[in-house]
Amino acid sequence: MSDAVNYGPLTGLIGSWKGDRGLDVAPEDKGEIERNPYFETIDFEAIGDVENAGKQTLAILRYHQQVYRKSNDEQFHDQFGYITWDSATDVISHSFIIPRGVAVVADGSATEADGTITIIMNVTPEQANGGIAQTAFMRDNAKTTSFGDTMVLNGDELSYDMTTMLDIYGREFKHKDKSKLTRV
Ligand code: HEM
Repeated sequence: MSDAVNYGPLTGLIGSWKGDRGLDVAPEDKGEIERNPYFETIDFEAIGDVENAGKQTLAILRYHQQVYRKSNDEQFHDQFGYITWDSATDVISHSFIIPRGVAVVADGSATEADGTITIIMNVTPEQANGGIAQTAFMRDNAKTTSFGDTMVLNGDELSYDMTTMLDIYGREFKHKDKSKLTRV
């Protein structure tokens, strides 16, 4: 991994972020829905680059997201991952894990307009296992079937809108997480 790395559209993410306007929409049994206002921190660290198959060079950000329920100040979501950018093709990739036993690899791209960078990342059917790996328990009881995330970066403001489709309690459920953060 080398130090002099161009992080392209990811450059503005590097650093620490804090937000207290998150809203989680999560599944409950018997057709019910849980709505959880939350606060959170996300730390993005620039960690250099890596080469794949002698053909692709990815600039890498590593991140940690910690999410807390406003109602009791307790942490209820934790996520570790990497977001990468390939300067040759402009392709972005997002890979992450959550403690429930689910791992996701999404492909993406960024666009820039008037100083605002929009990064759209989705799992696609072309990816191995549809971009999702999960434990046997989760596959059988609370299956993640798709994932998409749109991040919008404008200077010291960052927002995201994530949709995780679940097959749980005998129905398809749209698990949503939306939030706005500011740079610390
Ligand atoms: C800010 C981000 C997120 C928050 C705050 C959050 C929060 C929650 C909450 C509160 C539940 C309901 C738990 C329960 O009552 O049992 C849940 C369920 C679930 N979440 Fe998330 N989640 C987030 C992101 C994700 C992501 C990115 C994935 C996977 C790609 C994911 C996968 C799941 C699954 C599979 C369940 C079903 C488990 C269950 O309800 O028993 N979540 N989440």
